[in-house]
Amino acid sequence: MLSLTEPDFDRFRDLIRSASGIHFTRYNRSVLENRLDGALRKYALDSLDLLYRKLTSDKATLTEFIDSVTTNLTRFFRNEAQFEVLEQAILPEIIRRKGAQKRLSIWSAGCSTGEEPYTIALSLLKILPDPRSWDLHIHASDISLRTLMVAKQGFYETSRVTHIPPDLLARYFINLQDGYEVGPELKKLIRFDYHNLQHATNLREMDIIFCRNVIIYFEESTQEKVVQSFYDTLGPKGYLFLGHSESLFSMKTRFQLYKNDKTTLYYKDEGAPTPAPMRENP
Ligand SMILES: C[S@@+](CC[C@H](N)C(=O)[O-])C[C@H]1O[C@@H](n2cnc3c(N)ncnc32)[C@H](O)[C@@H]1O
Repeated sequence: MLSLTEPDFDRFRDLIRSASGIHFTRYNRSVLENRLDGALRKYALDSLDLLYRKLTSDKATLTEFIDSVTTNLTRFFRNEAQFEVLEQAILPEIIRRKGAQKRLSIWSAGCSTGEEPYTIALSLLKILPDPRSWDLHIHASDISLRTLMVAKQGFYETSRVTHIPPDLLARYFINLQDGYEVGPELKKLIRFDYHNLQHATNLREMDIIFCRNVIIYFEESTQEKVVQSFYDTLGPKGYLFLGHSESLFSMKTRFQLYKNDKTTLYYKDEGAPTPAPMRENP
């Protein structure tokens, strides 16, 4: 197995960080060593110098290499408490506020293989009264082209759909021999795109952003930059869901905290009412 010298560790760490925000430290150094080892084999190169030259001169190779260092773990209804608060407090508040306009835009930033945006779509179809009368947009993006291909295809082995309530699975998925494919009613709500959170987005006036278990891989200054851009991308009363172990606690931010006994999330407090408390027994 490859063992990096300090200067090599530093230059590959810096290259990855400036290309993607993903930050390697001594704690996950072995992951980087493993991925570099894989890249040397894949491109049949016999030195890290040659690999570094290839990565810094060929954008497609760099994109592919960055993809290989991403962590893509996800699942349907990951962190269920967040989907409870979405369904019981956030969507009802948005329905009241935007019931006349009937347009709703959600961004799943760092969507990996698609389970997160498909879960969001399931929640919308479950909660919105007459969802067909709404103009619904779920933008789902990731820096990993590999995961986006899986997401777009929308096929999941049976072991991966166990967290989907059986009634929703039966209604919105197609049961194939060795798994389930997302049905057209869900698929048409979502647009999957390559997007690097290091770069500006042209999305605007989002109602909700999910960016869960993504910024945890960034260093603090990058996290702050990304969170600031989420603030600008949200509409006047937009919500931000972060991962279970991510928070804005030590960050300078204009986001307000919304907390109940199950979960926390953030919102942009510009004019509209705060979300109603969750019902005990929905
Ligand atoms: C652990 S997965 C989280 C998936 C999903 N949000 C969830 O919580 O289940 C993290 C995802 O963030 C993506 N990612 C990492 N850095 C990114 C960046 N700079 N821009 C966009 N996506 C990024 C990775 O490719 C990966 O698919």
